[in-house]
Amino acid sequence: MNLTPKEIVAYLDKYVISQKDAKKTIALALRTRYRRMQLSPEIQDDIMPKNILIIGSTGVGKTEISRRLAKMMKVPFIKVEASKYTEVGFVGRDVESMIRDLVINAIALVKAEQEELNKEKIENYVINKIVEKLLPPLPESATEAKKDDYKRLLATMEVKVINGEMDDRIIQIEFDKIHIEFNDTNLPPEMAKVQESFSKIFETMNKEDKKKDVTVKDAKELLKHEAASKLLDMVSINNEALKRAANGGIIFLDEIDKIAISSKSQGRNDPSKEGVQRDLLPIVEGSSVTTKYGVIDTDHILFIAAGAFHLTKPSDLIPELQGRFPLRVELESLTEETLYKILTQTQNSLLKQYEALLSVEDVKLIFEDEGILAIAKLAHRANEITEDIGARRLHTVLEKVLEDISFNAEDHKGEEIIITSKLVHEKLDMVVEDEDLSRYIL
Ligand SMILES: Nc1ncnc2c1ncn2[C@@H]1O[C@H](COP(=O)(O)OP(=O)(O)OP(=O)(O)O)[C@@H](O)[C@H]1O
Ligand SMILES: [Mg+2]
Repeated sequence: MNLTPKEIVAYLDKYVISQKDAKKTIALALRTRYRRMQLSPEIQDDIMPKNILIIGSTGVGKTEISRRLAKMMKVPFIKVEASKYTEVGFVGRDVESMIRDLVINAIALVKAEQEELNKEKIENYVINKIVEKLLPPLPESATEAKKDDYKRLLATMEVKVINGEMDDRIIQIEFDKIHIEFNDTNLPPEMAKVQESFSKIFETMNKEDKKKDVTVKDAKELLKHEAASKLLDMVSINNEALKRAANGGIIFLDEIDKIAISSKSQGRNDPSKEGVQRDLLPIVEGSSVTTKYGVIDTDHILFIAAGAFHLTKPSDLIPELQGRFPLRVELESLTEETLYKILTQTQNSLLKQYEALLSVEDVKLIFEDEGILAIAKLAHRANEITEDIGARRLHTVLEKVLEDISFNAEDHKGEEIIITSKLVHEKLDMVVEDEDLSRYIL
């Protein structure tokens, strides 16, 4: 991961409109980690990541930023919801399991890299296996002439398998070597070990049933796992993954406001929320967590927390936890102009999605610029009159505008439908201006 901060921001710009401060802060934090890794180990140890807290009301892009980061990142990255965890000792996922998830993510990442590096070897293995099935080997006693014939046959068969001519043939492959992964990360390592032995027992029990008839085409995919587990060194992959998770890992802790305890409504608060916050402290600050792949130190994992903080404030988090998120960024609420840009400038924007969906019915949707402006304007208006739900309002507004067209698509086959400002107003004016109505419909 050696994108510069500007490149990271440029990437995010394609999907998330405005919210410059947040993008900058995140990009810088990522780059700082890259810089740190270039230094001598001795100074590396002292450079701690500065965790980030993103604050912004609902529907302004918090989760969207993390979703896009996850896709872009070549570092171990997971996104979790703080509200899903429960205090240690209670039934549910404890917070340490997020570190285990991160390690699993890192393993998948390193494994994919290794698979890519060893692509040729893996492919050869797979092809050989399939050819072996299609042409059973000759008995030892075969004559020299037969053996020569066989070799030639093998070579042509190999070509045929590679270029897909044999794809429809059925062969039988054994699954006993395919490891069934139980990755319930919620289990503590001791339990995970027990589970592992269970899955081994299952594997031996079912050995006979593990033969399966599949097409050559499917076998090519299925055998890749077997090839990878044979050819790749899983121990060094695990070690590398642990190292990467510890030094480059990022955990996006969404919905952190849901574990804050509002100072106003003390009576009704759930005491276990505070427990979760306390459990988070050592992990965010840095501690050792045991996973079934090994022990990992969390000191250098970067945490990005995000929350709407509608009912609570960041100061409602316990002070120790607040202190562990020194960088704060606020997302702006969305203006009419931003909403317009979200419709027009993001990749795979809602408009493009609707166009694509209706094109399946052979209906061509054309959004006039005036029409889009009207949609943005009315969405913004609805946010003002009722609750501000940010860009999510665009979904409801657009759905309302296109509802009839979408429902009656078959009657419009082969037609072009132009979404004009007039049409938008016709569909929406009544609803938006009537507060009660818009509460229900939009
Ligand atoms: N600034 C933005 N640019 C582009 N799309 C956005 C932006 N803000 C929100 N959206 C779109 O609106 C929808 C909701 O956004 P998102 O999930 O990020 O909200 P959120 O800030 O996480 O809200 P919540 O606090 O309710 O979880 C998504 O479909 C997203 O694509
Ligand atoms: Mg969200």
